[in-house]
Amino acid sequence: MTFVVTENCIRCKYMDCVEVCPVDCFHEGPNFLVIDPIECIDCTLCEPECPAGAIYKDENVPLEYREYIDINEQLSIKWGVVTEKKEPLEDADMWDGVKNKKVYLDVES
Ligand code: SF4
Ligand code: F3S
Repeated sequence: MTFVVTENCIRCKYMDCVEVCPVDCFHEGPNFLVIDPIECIDCTLCEPECPAGAIYKDENVPLEYREYIDINEQLSIKWGVVTEKKEPLEDADMWDGVKNKKVYLDVES
């Protein structure tokens, strides 16, 4: 079991989730965060913290976002750990709720 960050985080990255994680399993990319599924202890604390509603328990990830289970696993290997909240991305509120944001996912480090 793990929790998973899904599409609505892209171009928002509010980062409220980061500070509540007791085991530091969030990893940061340019416009998205992911959860390391090996480190996550299923404490549930992060899910209600996300203003964008982007975090789900893996078994509850909606069908349209199932691919994010693999995306979290892959990018958590590539990206570094983040433990401190920073400012959300500029225009985060404008992008919150926009559909089909995967095309904007920046996978660079
Ligand atoms: Fe961290 Fe808990 Fe969220 Fe897992 S469920 S990412 S351990 S805050
Ligand atoms: Fe992303 Fe929500 Fe965290 S928008 S950075 S998963 S608070």
